[in-house]
Amino acid sequence: MSKQQKQLTMTILMTPDMANFSGIVHGGALLQLLDRAAYACAARYSKKYVVTASLDQVSFKAPILVGELVTLYANVNYVGRTSMEVGIKAIAEDLKSHEQRHTTSCYFTMVAKDDDGKSTPVPALNLTTELDKKLYQAGKMRLEMRREINQRNLELHVEIPEDFG
Ligand SMILES: CC(C)(COP(=O)(O)OP(=O)(O)OC[C@H]1O[C@@H](n2cnc3c(N)ncnc32)[C@H](O)[C@@H]1OP(=O)(O)O)[C@@H](O)C(=O)NCCC(=O)NCCS
Repeated sequence: MSKQQKQLTMTILMTPDMANFSGIVHGGALLQLLDRAAYACAARYSKKYVVTASLDQVSFKAPILVGELVTLYANVNYVGRTSMEVGIKAIAEDLKSHEQRHTTSCYFTMVAKDDDGKSTPVPALNLTTELDKKLYQAGKMRLEMRREINQRNLELHVEIPEDFG
């Protein structure tokens, strides 16, 4: 059994084009990098083209500054039939002091597509370590929570009239 490529690490220097006037990186700029890491992680794992189906539990715990080095640690936690949950943790590092901070974490659901654009099956995860099993179980619980939230959200839906505003 060949080893699965389910982890991916991406390191990026934070440049001024990613930041606001105070030198703090925009949340959206970081989200773009997180999405790229999720894409690369899921595509490499499944050996397929993948799309982002959803993103949840995004938590910006601490600001990231221009000039810091950010490393994204991505991992395929859970796999359904055609979907994969990729968990990502962002660590920012001050290049002078080498001080590191866990700034962000989130969970992407990525779906594999075939050449006709249809959702297509992905390989089952090999759960070899205790950590793999814990991450898988947590991913499965989040999937159930996601389904429940989606259902409850449907019930909260309010139709916005066309002449609104
Ligand atoms: C998300 C998407 C792939 C679902 O396609 P679909 O044909 O409706 O999919 P299905 O109902 O067959 O579901 C396929 C898988 O996606 C999952 N899925 C569908 N919608 C989802 C959502 N909103 N969040 C998380 N997972 C979702 C399903 O649970 C299923 O997983 P499984 O096969 O592991 O059980 C499709 O709606 C799509 O292509 N959306 C656009 C994606 C995109 O362009 N992303 C970039 C945004 S700019």
